[in-house]
Amino acid sequence: GRVIVTIDGVAASGKSSVASGVARALGVPYVSSGLLYRAATLLALEAGAPLEGARALLTHLRAHPLRLEALPGGNRLWAGERELTDELHSTRVDQGVSAVAALPEVRAWVDAQLRALPEPFVAEGRDMGTNVFPHADAKFYLTASPRVRAERRAQERPEDVPAIEAALIERDRRDRVQSAPAPDARVIDTGPLSLEGVIGTILAALPA
Ligand code: C5P
Repeated sequence: GRVIVTIDGVAASGKSSVASGVARALGVPYVSSGLLYRAATLLALEAGAPLEGARALLTHLRAHPLRLEALPGGNRLWAGERELTDELHSTRVDQGVSAVAALPEVRAWVDAQLRALPEPFVAEGRDMGTNVFPHADAKFYLTASPRVRAERRAQERPEDVPAIEAALIERDRRDRVQSAPAPDARVIDTGPLSLEGVIGTILAALPA
């Protein structure tokens, strides 16, 4: 059927791994909205554009459309023939992305791309269940303590756990406006759970 599942949550709460696992179990694509914000940020950094100035960035994005490829095993992000995926999780993109994501014009641009996707799918991000897909069939919100999230992320970043933890807390603070859980979202603390445990919890809670 035409089903949308939303998985929102704080930074490094495991959203994309969980969304991928849920989507594979359902046999549908998953969509990582954060990749679009990250790609816009990378392009702004490369252009040397001030991150708080939306106009030049939006003009650039309209002239050079980005394409989100929603594969079940992992999303890929393309700018024309160039694949940006592997460059989107650098520390400088982590640090710049919240300022770009705060621009209303950028949010409208991302939202329009997401709403154009064919259902069914699993969408993960910050505001999938609140702003972009308020009529989703099932909504989840992932949390975990900053320390737990930093320890997980330390496997994939060069910085040490305290530095990663401080950066996560700062990014949560900057993303707070668009990161409130939907009132009808089921909140899951992933701290005590394995990845498979979180995926199983979500699958068990889906409407039959
Ligand atoms: O999910 P991820 O950590 O990759 O998202 C990167 C950034 O993109 C977030 O820190 C936030 O600034 C922005 N974002 C957002 N709304 C979403 C998804 C991501 O503002 N739905």
